Amino acid sequence: MRILSGIQPSGALHLGNYFGMMRPAIELQEKGEALYFIADYHSMTSLFDAEQRRRNTFDVALDFLACGLDPKKSIFFKQSDVPEVTELSWLLTTVTPMSLLEKCTSYKDKVAKGISPNHGLFAYPVLMAADILIYDSNIVPVGRDQKQHVEVTRDIAVKFNETYGQTFVIPEPQIREEGAVVPGTDGQKMSKSYGNTIEIFAEEKAIRKKLMGIVMDSRTPQEPKPDADKNLAVQLLKLIAPADVARDYEERLRAGGLGYGDLKKGLFENYWSYFAEARTKRAELAANPDYVRQVLREGAEKARALATKVLQRAKVASGLS
Ligand code: ADP
Ligand code: TRP
Repeated sequence: MRILSGIQPSGALHLGNYFGMMRPAIELQEKGEALYFIADYHSMTSLFDAEQRRRNTFDVALDFLACGLDPKKSIFFKQSDVPEVTELSWLLTTVTPMSLLEKCTSYKDKVAKGISPNHGLFAYPVLMAADILIYDSNIVPVGRDQKQHVEVTRDIAVKFNETYGQTFVIPEPQIREEGAVVPGTDGQKMSKSYGNTIEIFAEEKAIRKKLMGIVMDSRTPQEPKPDADKNLAVQLLKLIAPADVARDYEERLRAGGLGYGDLKKGLFENYWSYFAEARTKRAELAANPDYVRQVLREGAEKARALATKVLQRAKVASGLS
């Protein structure tokens, strides 16, 4: 079984990325042949600062390795180190109906948020399809917001297979219920572009301030809160604290007597210890950049060997070769 996923180097990774994509991806590396990549080509649709892209790409590599991606088990690489994917993207784009891309909600959302709509942003699901199909991927672990793109990938693969004969494996998205949509500090979906993120790796003081600053309602601590399960801190605690600890906070909030200050303090403490080991690992990796670059180089070599074969299959099927 081939497992594949990617993440854009568009800013510091956060709890939404972690529970939506990274942790499931890391767990899946035990279950099959996993390929994970840093989607630097994709980041070009919305980030136009070369130095920042370079820095973010390295930071994503550090974050992912620190969180448990094991380069002995998974192939970990940078998307643009396998340029064959852009060639496949052209082959796919010619069998992609305009209407398929026009219905993609992620494009519409990004434009609504003020990102200027360049052609790359519109065509991005086709490049994502190429990312997935070029490795004969069976399973694609992603957060819920990416599900539609995997469905578009399936449609494109079917269309190509119908047009030129059986060429591509049809992939399945894998979305975990827990962590499918992690809420941000304002209760909306956590996202870099909403400015509501809780970073996986941030300075202690800054993150403490951010968590203590989460706005809650004006009910007194004594008041029982029958809607305790809807509380943002409780929802986050369910992700990062041991189950009994999270349950205890929820029950105390429901019964009344637990103040929001203490609840948020509990959230900070559990967050901080949840990533303690990863934080140490990240500092070690950051001190050893050559090792990190070597991991990506070796990953790219392995990925490229697989990609070249599938691209060639598609070229033969379509009469280019
Ligand atoms: P962002 O919205 O911050 O720009 P990305 O679009 O780069 O995040 O997402 C990278 C991966 O993380 C995707 O698989 C996406 O589904 C997942 N992801 C991002 N935010 C969340 C969230 N709030 N909850 C669950 N998964 C998320
Ligand atoms: N589009 C994904 C995101 O923004 C990143 C990505 C690019 C991806 N190519 C992919 C994810 C292929 C899974 C499979 O989060």
